[in-house]
Amino acid sequence: MEYSLQADHLTKLFDGQLPAVNDITLTVKPGEFLTLLGPSGSGKTTMLRLLAGFERPTSGRIQIGPRIVADDSRFVPPERRKVGMVFQDYALFPHVDVAGNIAFGLRGSRAESERRVKQLLSLVGLSQFAGRMPHELSGGQQQRVALARALAPEPDILLLDEPFSNLDTGLRAQVRTHVRDILHETETTAIFVTHDQEEALSLSDEIAVIHDGRLLQVATPHVIYNRPINSQVAHFIGEANFLPGIANGYTADCLLGEVKLYLPRTGDVELMIRPEALAVNVDDGGTSATVRWREFHGHFQRLGLALANGTGLIARTGVAPYIRRGDQVTVTMALPALAYDPANDDTLS
Ligand SMILES: Nc1ncnc2c1ncn2[C@@H]1O[C@H](COP(=O)(O)OP(=O)(O)OP(=O)(O)O)[C@@H](O)[C@H]1O
Ligand SMILES: [Mg+2]
Repeated sequence: MEYSLQADHLTKLFDGQLPAVNDITLTVKPGEFLTLLGPSGSGKTTMLRLLAGFERPTSGRIQIGPRIVADDSRFVPPERRKVGMVFQDYALFPHVDVAGNIAFGLRGSRAESERRVKQLLSLVGLSQFAGRMPHELSGGQQQRVALARALAPEPDILLLDEPFSNLDTGLRAQVRTHVRDILHETETTAIFVTHDQEEALSLSDEIAVIHDGRLLQVATPHVIYNRPINSQVAHFIGEANFLPGIANGYTADCLLGEVKLYLPRTGDVELMIRPEALAVNVDDGGTSATVRWREFHGHFQRLGLALANGTGLIARTGVAPYIRRGDQVTVTMALPALAYDPANDDTLS
């Protein structure tokens, strides 16, 4: 069964501090995978702990499927919420074997429980490891046991708090695609916390960007990357160049000459230009620049450019033409830019 999750004006104040979670309203649709993305201390773990029932909200409401689990008058404790949680440190029981860890939250008959454990072991690809102790497993295998344990009681919602942070890059990529496939297969509604933007952009159905306990934007990865709602989100997600400009409708004047805009603006603006929106040429017209550095990435190159007045830009282009450090090049815009109004809280809409 797929459940939605709804938080309304959710706020959590710890004694004598600024709100850790500040008036967050957020919906996760049934079966959807939402990522909470934000810097350290922005309130991600607190948000998950509120949803799981490990913290009481100061104010606001939480609804899981048709059921209100927290509001001014109600508080359903964690064990009755049907919410599974995978913690950053896995938290496996060290003196219990893999099967015992997975069976931990299961009620019902022994036979039923054994069947479910078998099913989960196969789902996470660890059928051969039922009798192993946690210390006899690799980090990635422990991670999958933690996931199996959280999924075993068939939670309505699964919460994952930086579950891949202890894994090295290769294993991390492998385990995260595995987890994504398992969540799709079991049609589980999930909220995932990460610091890692690339992970967020590649895995999620939706991304919620939070900062200082506040929700800045929630949208698909595509929209978050291409239409960040303000320059704060744009700074936080992906790489970007920022240039001052003067807008006049769908164009703006800036150091790169007249550039096209996605949305019309007038007056002073801050232009946000993704590195792949810059075209770098060796002979065509455009704004002159010097190549300060070049990074080769196989299927693309990153270039550090300096305009005549010293302004730095980062460009990401295909590997042709061949460009070296010190080359003189010209820069044009291959895609329109986004323009933020600096006087209006940098807000896009
Ligand atoms: N039990 C607590 N008592 C007091 N303050 C707390 C408590 N838990 C968290 N905080 C504070 O709330 C804020 C948000 O913390 P939280 O753990 O939610 O951040 P986070 O986004 O998960 O950060 P990280 O990425 O570092 O894990 C921080 O300022 C933190 O110090
Ligand atoms: Mg945290």
